[in-house]
Amino acid sequence: MPDILERIERAYSFIRSKTDSRPGTGLILGSGLGDFCDSFDKSVVIPFGEIPDFPAATVEGHRGAFVIGNCGGKSVAALRGRLHYYEGYSQSEITMPVRVMKKLGVETLIITNAAGGINLSFSEGALMLISDHINYSGSNPLIGKNLDEFGPRFPDMSDVYSKEARVKIKEMAEDSGINLYEGVYAMYSGPSFETPAEIRFLRLIGADAVGMSTVPEAIVARHCGMEVIGISLITNMAAGILEKKLSHLEVIETANRVKASFARVLDLAVSLG
Ligand code: HPA
Repeated sequence: MPDILERIERAYSFIRSKTDSRPGTGLILGSGLGDFCDSFDKSVVIPFGEIPDFPAATVEGHRGAFVIGNCGGKSVAALRGRLHYYEGYSQSEITMPVRVMKKLGVETLIITNAAGGINLSFSEGALMLISDHINYSGSNPLIGKNLDEFGPRFPDMSDVYSKEARVKIKEMAEDSGINLYEGVYAMYSGPSFETPAEIRFLRLIGADAVGMSTVPEAIVARHCGMEVIGISLITNMAAGILEKKLSHLEVIETANRVKASFARVLDLAVSLG
């Protein structure tokens, strides 16, 4: 297998051979949220499986494809379904699509996810703008040789999720009558859900929501200088908070239930890019 840089170059050339659009905005659609890109105009769909040397997505609700099209008059590159660390890939592999997006011209990356609510004022179906993250995944996507053409060895992470964009999205959401919380997202590797003790620990260290994605993508996006916007859909309260067990089915069901207001927030976020 060629090294990561070569794989990124090959994936980029392959996608370039299918479209000459220069998307300025990237979008990563989390569990149950992939439908958002079905409304794109003139879209080109490139399944991960067709891209040479590209990792394939394996999770139900995460059909993996690059979808490049127009959304609200903007050219957008979306990932319909993402790659996860728990699928067995390294974090540098699961973030290859972010670097491919950078090469395609993306400057603003909107990362979405389904997450468990830790903050007790949240409830199922709530939407949370990510203000910061805790990398509790046990790894980092920048481990290994630094790819100098993308960014520095020791990138600053003091302002990962654009404050300016958050203020604007909150204002616009309020005007449209959508309640948006703001909070800290912690990444746990999965694929098992957390235990109640782990959730109490994550609350103590300052997390408001927990999930199995987003953090590696945000780190790689900031490494290469993109502006990042993160939005979590709280599909369930985290383990031990309510008297019920967690399941992936519930995650998908809640995502389906609130997809309409989620799509409105995404439209707002895309309009900023
Ligand atoms: N934990 C981790 N990941 C998740 C959860 C959760 O409770 N809900 C949706 N994704």
